[in-house]
Amino acid sequence: MACSENMFFLIGLFMSGVLTCFGRRDLITTMPDRLDGLTGSCVQIPCSFDVPEQHKNTFKATIPTFGVWIKTHPDVHQYPGNVIFHSNGKVNRYQGKITGNMSQKNCTTVFFNVTTSYSDKYYFRIDGQPFRGTDPDKSVNIVVSDFPSSPIITVSGEVKEGTPVSLNCSAVAPCPEHPPELTWTLPTQFTTENQLQENPDQTISVLSTVTFTPSYLHHEKNITCTAVYPVGTSNKTAEHNMMLNVSFSPKDTSASISPYDPVLVGSYVNLTCSSTANPPVTNFTWFQISEGKTTQVASGQSYTLNVTGDGGLYFCEGRNSHGCGKSNEVQLAIKGKMGT
Ligand SMILES: *[C@@H]1O[C@H](CO)[C@@H](O)[C@H](O)[C@H]1NC(C)=O
Ligand SMILES: *[C@@H]1O[C@H](CO)[C@@H](O)[C@H](O)[C@H]1NC(C)=O
Ligand SMILES: *[C@@H]1O[C@H](CO)[C@@H](O)[C@H](O)[C@H]1NC(C)=O
Ligand SMILES: *[C@@H]1O[C@H](CO)[C@@H](O)[C@H](O)[C@H]1NC(C)=O
Ligand SMILES: *[C@@H]1O[C@H](CO)[C@@H](O)[C@H](O)[C@H]1NC(C)=O
Ligand SMILES: *[C@@H]1O[C@H](CO)[C@@H](O)[C@H](O)[C@H]1NC(C)=O
Ligand SMILES: *[C@@H]1O[C@H](CO)[C@@H](O)[C@H](O)[C@H]1NC(C)=O
Ligand SMILES: *[C@@H]1O[C@H](CO)[C@@H](O)[C@H](O)[C@H]1NC(C)=O
Ligand SMILES: *[C@@H]1O[C@H](CO)[C@@H](O)[C@H](O)[C@H]1NC(C)=O
Ligand SMILES: *[C@@H]1O[C@H](CO)[C@@H](O)[C@H](O)[C@H]1NC(C)=O
Repeated sequence: MACSENMFFLIGLFMSGVLTCFGRRDLITTMPDRLDGLTGSCVQIPCSFDVPEQHKNTFKATIPTFGVWIKTHPDVHQYPGNVIFHSNGKVNRYQGKITGNMSQKNCTTVFFNVTTSYSDKYYFRIDGQPFRGTDPDKSVNIVVSDFPSSPIITVSGEVKEGTPVSLNCSAVAPCPEHPPELTWTLPTQFTTENQLQENPDQTISVLSTVTFTPSYLHHEKNITCTAVYPVGTSNKTAEHNMMLNVSFSPKDTSASISPYDPVLVGSYVNLTCSSTANPPVTNFTWFQISEGKTTQVASGQSYTLNVTGDGGLYFCEGRNSHGCGKSNEVQLAIKGKMGT
């Protein structure tokens, strides 16, 4: 019993699959899965279509063909009220225009002055010839917002002091006729290059590439990419902030001695090294200058020294993967010795 029920279920599934593939898909459209629009601006739907083999004879590119946009559900017979645009001019509930050349199977369409209530799924249909049909398997999800989405900054690789670096900022341009203008805010001089770019799903973006040479002074400073969308007579703005992470060799390396005053032979003094670096210093090394000779005497950020007779000058070095920094020299002064 259970077995035969399963059989029926499988047959049903198979039959509906057959119908969808060979019976119902009278048209094959190509358009993006999703488009993000901005209230008051336009939305361009990049669209092309093809006619399946079994209808090749009925579709004639030479006869003018009408394009139809249907919202929510592809079945125009069941839901005729869902037609929001027909290029015969009879329905234009949205201010729409097919800008593609339908004879070349280009159904690219622009809807002007969109509002949030337009957010929905849309299906394309061709009409007006011996051949008419809808693609029920492909729709574009249009999402209209009052505010533009933030542009996206991308960095490739490490940002190193002294090495020119390029960053990209990309912002969607749902209405390519009025693309956003991208500007950068950086803590230093820079050059930019802007271009319109077609994405793999045929949507359009504005790409701005900024090039600059970072210094360690720019570490942890913000950079901003601002997208200004013209909407009617005003502008809408969105931005992306990013904190720079500049890697640099040790800077401001400094040695200090404690106690600072002259000490007695046999007592202890501490020498401490400090430095800023990104990534942090991994290796501190201490040197003594005595009688004109420099000798490496210790490693480690602090060096505790047992004072013997000679005193002398000391300095340290900090090192990370980007290089090293050398400190000032400090004098170890011995009580009772000359010059102290
Ligand atoms: C389709 O038409 C649009 C609008 O005229 C145009 O920008 C686009 O390049 C055309 N697409 C193709 C594949 O020709
Ligand atoms: C559309 O394409 C057809 C066929 O390529 C061409 O004859 C016609 O001039 C084009 N129409 C427009 C408005 O470009
Ligand atoms: C755009 O739509 C809004 C609201 O639907 C309307 O008030 C405005 O006049 C329209 N603007 C244009 C240029 O059509
Ligand atoms: C910036 O965009 C260009 C062009 O798409 C690409 O070749 C480059 O790799 C991108 N660079 C970054 C840092 O993402
Ligand atoms: C809109 O932005 C552009 C540049 O992005 C600027 O030239 C123009 O003055 C701005 N318009 C308004 C009304 O703010
Ligand atoms: C830097 O950007 C962060 C967000 O990424 C923000 O919270 C911070 O206030 C900004 N700092 C400055 C100095 O603008
Ligand atoms: C040296 O440093 C050690 C450990 O940091 C500390 O215990 C000691 O008191 C310091 N000595 C002097 C003379 O500053
Ligand atoms: C900044 O860069 C350094 C060196 O490349 C890396 O070690 C560190 O994790 C980075 N910090 C952040 C917050 O990304
Ligand atoms: C630190 O650097 C010094 C001098 O370059 C080297 O002799 C020493 O082996 C290094 N120590 C470590 C732990 O890397
Ligand atoms: C410090 O030096 C004195 C004199 O040379 C010696 O007696 C003492 O053991 C040393 N202390 C240490 C901890 O090395």
